[in-house]
Amino acid sequence: MTAQLIPTRRSFPADDPIFALNAEANTRKAAGESVLNATVGALLDESGQLVVLDSVMELWRGLGTMEVAPYAPIAGDPAFLKALVRRHWPQLAAAGAACTTPGGSGALALSLRNFLEPGQSLLTTAPFWGPYATLAAENGMGLVTAPWPGVGEPLNAAAWDGALRHLMTRQGRVLLWLNDPCHNPTGRSLSAADRAVLLDLLRQVSALGPVTLLLDFAYLDYTREPEAVEAALRDYAAFGTEGRVLVGASLSLSKSMTLYGARCGAIAFPWCAEPALQAALTQSCRGTWSNCAKAPQSLLLRLEQDGKAQARLTAEHRHWSEVLSARAQALDAALVAEGMKPLHWQGGFFVTVATAEPEAVCVRLKAEGVFTVPLPEGLRVGICGMRAADAPRFAQALHRVLARP
Ligand SMILES: Cc1ncc(COP(=O)(O)O)c(C=O)c1O
Repeated sequence: MTAQLIPTRRSFPADDPIFALNAEANTRKAAGESVLNATVGALLDESGQLVVLDSVMELWRGLGTMEVAPYAPIAGDPAFLKALVRRHWPQLAAAGAACTTPGGSGALALSLRNFLEPGQSLLTTAPFWGPYATLAAENGMGLVTAPWPGVGEPLNAAAWDGALRHLMTRQGRVLLWLNDPCHNPTGRSLSAADRAVLLDLLRQVSALGPVTLLLDFAYLDYTREPEAVEAALRDYAAFGTEGRVLVGASLSLSKSMTLYGARCGAIAFPWCAEPALQAALTQSCRGTWSNCAKAPQSLLLRLEQDGKAQARLTAEHRHWSEVLSARAQALDAALVAEGMKPLHWQGGFFVTVATAEPEAVCVRLKAEGVFTVPLPEGLRVGICGMRAADAPRFAQALHRVLARP
């Protein structure tokens, strides 16, 4: 019975493609096959169990009735917003225009509604997290990309300049979603030099019309290079302070607190406190989800007041960053042993192996019991769910598949 559905809503795939691949991997595993499932997008320990940060769960269990049951304010708890922003920029005294959202996804959706007209396109990197395209499509918008630098390559400034100017000419405004540092799906961050080049291009195009830079900070706590992440945050803060480009952040408790299912995050513009911007965000909240869950907001406030819990959380982040780093290093070593190039992970849950015909390679890898996510640029490999010990099997299977005509 699809007659009731309007025609444009009748032919979507039954399942999200990544979840479908994951389900296929799990079915084959349940049937007794030895499966290497690198499609998972959540952090798993060495026995394949979901990692849940103990420091966070202890705080969660301590929440009282009034920290869970009442409605939160429509735009979110101001103290929560300030605390979340200050986790990224401790020097800031206020969150600026901000509201709580259901995860980073909610923040991304809200940015579309408020900074682009239907029919216009956002700009992001290629490759990008697949649901970016879904979010754009759901809002009647398109998505244009400019290339993320390849391993050891500089940013393609000409391509970025072209994309920025093309969009500015066509639609008179630009919204850029930038998942840096700790990019999903490459696992690499912009170098300081590339970041400076990109910010300068944004500065230049902002002379032609309004530009919004939304930083998608989904994975900052999981990195091989915490100092480089700090430096990136400082660069973006300095850029936001200039005030030429509206700089905001999509913040999330999903990965940082392993509270994926609590659906909590925020969109914040720490360097802009204009009432019109705040009112627009609040209106979007009311007209979309009304208000967000109170419990995760209460949890962050407890964390803010608990130095011991903060220290434990930092230690847990360091531990799991080291685990991810060891997995990435094992994968690089295994790829090199098979005559392929290393991927140089810096942060986040994924790396991407560049290949021609990723769909076909993905299918042939599945025949070997190895599950990856095909992207236009290559194969996404979730090191978040793959043990270091599985790296040789992965590299050998990939080598076999690529060697076959
Ligand atoms: C790059 C990126 N941005 C945003 C998100 C949004 O996650 P959530 O809505 O759970 O915060 C994800 C989740 O996987 C992601 O990978």
